[in-house]
Amino acid sequence: MSKKIRVCQGPHCRYRGAERIMEVLAAHFGLAAGQKNEPVDLDFCACVDNCDSGPNVVEDDSKLYQEAATKDITKRLEQGAGQPITPLTIDDLKLDEL
Ligand code: FES
Repeated sequence: MSKKIRVCQGPHCRYRGAERIMEVLAAHFGLAAGQKNEPVDLDFCACVDNCDSGPNVVEDDSKLYQEAATKDITKRLEQGAGQPITPLTIDDLKLDEL
């Protein structure tokens, strides 16, 4: 199964260099955004609600790499040095408060 890597393309992350982050990752993995091979599934994603710390990269919906920089994002990914994230559940949405 491929490792899913997503680069936030929300407005804040784009302003802070998400396109350059994608260029570095695409060159490193030999893929373009939207492509995958055995080790990696690379693409953009929508805003991950961590705008103040962008650009953000998400690995397998479970690790967040905030303040991603072109100089070390591939190394951080190889080290698995992202922050653990927990996906929201339906209970987190507090629908009764709407
Ligand atoms: S724009 Fe990237 S987290 Fe919101």
